[in-house]
Amino acid sequence: MARQHNFSAGPGVLPESVISKAREALWELGDTGLGLVESSHRSKAFDAIVTQAAERLHRLLGCDDDQVVLFLHGGARTQFHQVPMNLLRGSRAAYLDTGTWSKGAIEEAKLFGEVDVPWSSRERGYDSVPAAGDYAVPEGVRYLHYTSNNTVAGSEFDHIPDPGAAWLMCDASSNFLSRPVDARRFDLLYAGAQKNLGPSGVTIVVIRRSLLPHCDTAIPRMERYGVHVEKASMFNTPCTFAIYVVNEVLGWIEDQGGLAVVDARNQAQADAVYAEIDRTGFWKGRVQRASRSRMNVTFSTGDADLDALFVKEATAAGLHGLKGHRSVGGLRASLYNAQTDAAVEALVGFLRAFEAARG
Ligand SMILES: Cc1ncc(COP(=O)(O)O)c(C=O)c1O
Repeated sequence: MARQHNFSAGPGVLPESVISKAREALWELGDTGLGLVESSHRSKAFDAIVTQAAERLHRLLGCDDDQVVLFLHGGARTQFHQVPMNLLRGSRAAYLDTGTWSKGAIEEAKLFGEVDVPWSSRERGYDSVPAAGDYAVPEGVRYLHYTSNNTVAGSEFDHIPDPGAAWLMCDASSNFLSRPVDARRFDLLYAGAQKNLGPSGVTIVVIRRSLLPHCDTAIPRMERYGVHVEKASMFNTPCTFAIYVVNEVLGWIEDQGGLAVVDARNQAQADAVYAEIDRTGFWKGRVQRASRSRMNVTFSTGDADLDALFVKEATAAGLHGLKGHRSVGGLRASLYNAQTDAAVEALVGFLRAFEAARG
């Protein structure tokens, strides 16, 4: 079967050059005579990979010397409890409630302490994210947590919240490395790899060493950030395959000129899709315009049967993964870093043709 244009929300599209390289590495990693997934995580060959991946992330994010990059297991969802388990216990934190995933993070945090929610769009079906001045971080909270891009709702922050005296934590799973970012503003930043960065199986956590003395140590070692920092992500066997692919994707980003280039392409692709959605009144955007995500474009015809027909016909035309998340319905086009201009052109053409035929 021909390769499809992949608009899935994750695991999502990856650069073809990276997939080809991974295919070769599966058979033999460098000139070791061993396949990638047969190689020890403590081998010289793998050590070079994980070291390079950490260095590349540090550089692309513009981290300072206090910030450490970790490659952990358990997906972003594990961070929903690992953050409060380490850093909240018995105290208070503030969470901005902007979608399914922030709601999930709030539920887990409540197991460890008090949670303030200074801003929520839940009652409006998560139709927006706040602007910078729309919320105040309550006095005395240990940290402020937010989700920089809401994968299900299709909304995205255009600013980094100011946490005041508190630490700033961010779930950046679905817009990680999609634009230049000043990572020094964060105390803890995490992202599952399977959207902008690689396959599922590894979660990037960027944490400040200066946070470590504040972390609870009366928790299992696998949960302690301090242990993972001390062991350089090798406390247990990491997902070597996923880290390999992440490193290759990071190289792909650097080779084309870095995050400014990626940013420009992401913006142009999102602009093209939103322009088509807004061209007539046929398509309805799901979120308020000022909150629109550049990564996950959510929209619908307003008619569930017509949406289903769209998905069916789009799939037959080679456009994969356009069904909205099962919890909200509608349609969703994910435009992650590796999305191609050809795929976006095909999508825009298909949107137009579908409207012409059914509008
Ligand atoms: C923003 C965000 N956070 C967290 C998650 C959960 O990630 P994982 O499946 O890696 O645990 C997702 C999954 O789509 C997500 O989009």
